Amino acid sequence: MEYPKSDYKEYPKTLDPDDIWGQVRRTAYGKPIPEDQILLMVAAMRSGLELAAGDVLLDIGCGNGALSHYLFPDCSGYLGVDFSEYLVSVGQRKFHRPGFDFHFSDALEYLRGEPDPKRFNKAMCFAVLSYMNDDTALDVLTTLRKRFANVTRVFLGNLPDRDLAGQFYPADVDYSRDIEDPASQIGRWRNPEQMAALAEEAGWRLSASRMPDHFYQSHYRYNAVLEILE
Ligand SMILES: C[S@@+](CC[C@H](N)C(=O)[O-])C[C@H]1O[C@@H](n2cnc3c(N)ncnc32)[C@H](O)[C@@H]1O
Repeated sequence: MEYPKSDYKEYPKTLDPDDIWGQVRRTAYGKPIPEDQILLMVAAMRSGLELAAGDVLLDIGCGNGALSHYLFPDCSGYLGVDFSEYLVSVGQRKFHRPGFDFHFSDALEYLRGEPDPKRFNKAMCFAVLSYMNDDTALDVLTTLRKRFANVTRVFLGNLPDRDLAGQFYPADVDYSRDIEDPASQIGRWRNPEQMAALAEEAGWRLSASRMPDHFYQSHYRYNAVLEILE
């Protein structure tokens, strides 16, 4: 059985323009996941980033902002970047306010070209890195480290843990190719050691953490915080 590929450009257009959770596939059995589950992710991001008044947050692969807008009251500025023009337009329509913007661009292109990278001091990348191959993920983290000199903390959320793939896929599915493939529906699975090695090569020290057991994806996903490797 072939698992579907990821598609955040065309697929969201087939849904209701206000189905903000469906558009970023944050559903369980076709239904939006309950608010308490969303709040668990928001709490993990907020504490992982140590968000404080005055922080300016860069969100790489922001989707439509359905998740990240929960953090708006905790910071002073925000830019979400995504290569799905449609999701960016939904974010801009629903969540934009002065100083809190959404920008349509490929992540790496944006990171290489941002004219004022020093305005950001925190960054996040939630459920995105698995959709990049190792070279691109390394390039993203390296460019973030080198050009965004004031970013001291990065939150990598919802990473699929290769060591736990067997907890996710049904027993009769051969997932060996899917977990390598950044274009598969969950993307390329990496375990915390693989992520730490990538991060270190880019100039970051990684600390991995697990979500509470009652989080609906805790059996196969983890989070990580990056700090500057001295
Ligand atoms: C699972 S969604 C997560 C969206 C959002 N971070 C959230 O948690 O709700 C993955 C997002 O990554 C974006 N994405 C994947 N590769 C990207 C790239 N190279 N540049 C920019 N965005 C990318 C997709 O368009 C999609 O919006």
